[in-house]
Amino acid sequence: MLTRRTFLAVAAGAAAFGRGVRRALAGETAKTASGAPPAHPVAVSSENGLRAVQRAVERMRGGADPLDAIVEGVAIIEDDPADMTVGYGGVPNEEGVVQLDASVMHGPTGRAGAVAAVEGVKNPARLAKLVMETTDHILLVGAGARRFAEQNGVPIENLLTPKARKVWLYWKQNLANDDNWLEPPRDKLDPEVREFIDKYGADIFHEPRHGTVHVSGVDTRGDLAGCTSTSGLFFKIPGRAGDSPIIGAGCYTDNDVGSAGSTGRGEADILVCGGHTVVEMMRQGKSPEEACLEALKRIAASTRDTRLLDAKGRPKFSIKFYAVNKRGAYGSASMWGGPPEKPARFSVADGRGARLENCAFLFPGKPAR
Ligand code: GLY
Repeated sequence: MLTRRTFLAVAAGAAAFGRGVRRALAGETAKTASGAPPAHPVAVSSENGLRAVQRAVERMRGGADPLDAIVEGVAIIEDDPADMTVGYGGVPNEEGVVQLDASVMHGPTGRAGAVAAVEGVKNPARLAKLVMETTDHILLVGAGARRFAEQNGVPIENLLTPKARKVWLYWKQNLANDDNWLEPPRDKLDPEVREFIDKYGADIFHEPRHGTVHVSGVDTRGDLAGCTSTSGLFFKIPGRAGDSPIIGAGCYTDNDVGSAGSTGRGEADILVCGGHTVVEMMRQGKSPEEACLEALKRIAASTRDTRLLDAKGRPKFSIKFYAVNKRGAYGSASMWGGPPEKPARFSVADGRGARLENCAFLFPGKPAR
């Protein structure tokens, strides 16, 4: 029988063992856990997350928990209908319905939450945090996620803006030449559809496109968190979930090491467990930028589907990783560097303020279409 004294001894031993294992896993080298936490909070994000990192760092500076701070930053992007890749105003699925994905991971508790293909919830990152905080589950999907939102008093709203509806209708009209939808004359495009094409590219109707916001951050205690939120692949098959709600792919945080996430072709990220891979690379002593490049190399090496490769065998799609480590070092890398006039960029905020920086990249220029 386990007496109270033996129980306490066993519990103390288990705790010491746990600490030992964590230290061993963290690979306590000069490059990882043994470094001092940053003197100022740091947050790194996708290019569209500049306001998110600014807010997250402000809130962490004021003493907020890193995940609370980051989710508040991400909500700015989710609320903005001008960002048609995240939250309210996101590009809908092939049936014209906005379905959102999001995940969060909290370093200090090692807990995570996520929602996928949820409809009517403007701030899916907040809902993912609620899954983490109030359930024993990690991922709720579709109607169940929406029901969970309703049970928690989260308002259910129409997230399809008039502009997103027009864009979806235009996509339907242009899908095929032999269906019952007639293409509107190119010279008489609705100004909002024209604006969308100018921003996201004319081939948007024939090439898969994604957009997403990821934020990873660390506070001055060295506590980490991450969050990813998206409306996913434009005009996706209803129910499709990308990497954003998948813990270990679109978002992963280990409080002993760092936090990472991604934007871009979610299917490619899921196949290499990208967020987890980046954190593992940092655990082995790689800088955040090197770790992001390693994950991209894995994707490039493991993509064998010829429809996804260009004539030189390089992935034709876009994907980026973002990472920060426990000491506040940060970095990002993109599969493609982008044209000189529009290089691939990411957002960062730290003691020097919020700014955009160029991503490291695996291949120069634009992906071949
Ligand atoms: N990375 C976003 C998505 O694939 O949905």
